[in-house]
Amino acid sequence: MTHNDKNWQAVIMAGGSGSRLDPMTRAVNKHLLPVFDKPMIFYPLTTLMLGGLRNFTIVTSPRHVSQFEDLLGDGAAYGITINIREQERAGGIAECFRICRDDIADKNVALILGDNIFYGAGLTTQIHKGLARTRGATVFGYDVADPSAFGVVTLDANGRPTALVEKPKDFVSRTAVPGLYFYDNRVTEIADRLSPSLRGEMEITDVNRAYLETGELFVEPLPRGIAWLDGGTPQDLYEAGQFVYVLEQRTGTRVACPEEVALRKGFISREALAVTIEGYPKGNYRTYLEALLQDPSALEPRG
Ligand code: G1P
Repeated sequence: MTHNDKNWQAVIMAGGSGSRLDPMTRAVNKHLLPVFDKPMIFYPLTTLMLGGLRNFTIVTSPRHVSQFEDLLGDGAAYGITINIREQERAGGIAECFRICRDDIADKNVALILGDNIFYGAGLTTQIHKGLARTRGATVFGYDVADPSAFGVVTLDANGRPTALVEKPKDFVSRTAVPGLYFYDNRVTEIADRLSPSLRGEMEITDVNRAYLETGELFVEPLPRGIAWLDGGTPQDLYEAGQFVYVLEQRTGTRVACPEEVALRKGFISREALAVTIEGYPKGNYRTYLEALLQDPSALEPRG
């Protein structure tokens, strides 16, 4: 491993109003809605856990704090720490650096958006590329059919970024920037200097552009073998759920199960998992974890 997880603070952005998912988001935070058989936030949480990160802050709106506490507690069941911080209003993704300032302190920041789902062979390798770089910012580039819904990057012939545009109305590039970002500690100062965009939000694309302007933005191509999905609209949510359903039905394994990732990464012992499971209701999720404990190959890393 080329990095030390103590040098990185993991931040999951789970704020916003989820208006595109109304009425599903009237009582429940968007990032707790189901993606097939588990809450959406399990996917980004396990993505960063796979990278070896163990110190998490989740940023959400004040009225949803208790929902995250009920689901995740303080993270002990997964061998991680979770702080929950409040974003007063939907002020944009880049506000998270101010909100998490005390948690970040002198560390670097791995930021993932709570509705971004990554899956595929080599994902951990990609995450390690971000964690290995301790100066500058690392983002990913992923070609999509409809880039207009995302932050988009243009690259020169050497794969170096030349421009970034948030949700371009006119076509600039097919290469979207997914919601997984790695920043050095200067990101907090950069975010402090930002002004809100026309839609009144602190844009993550503006943070990335600040690194681009000093030649310190690195764009790693995310290969086609990795799936990147998000849960922003009812259709996205439905498609992501189907994707997970098909994979899980076929393989008999579960995608994004935090207890399993924690066990495989050595964050928790088998004994600790056995105690945790005792507290879970009888059902498929518990049965899956019980089978994992009984299977001697459960500790062999896969993929
Ligand atoms: C945000 C970012 C955008 C990024 C996208 C990834 O957009 O602003 O740059 O490409 O997440 O999911 P949002 O979907 O929050 O509007």
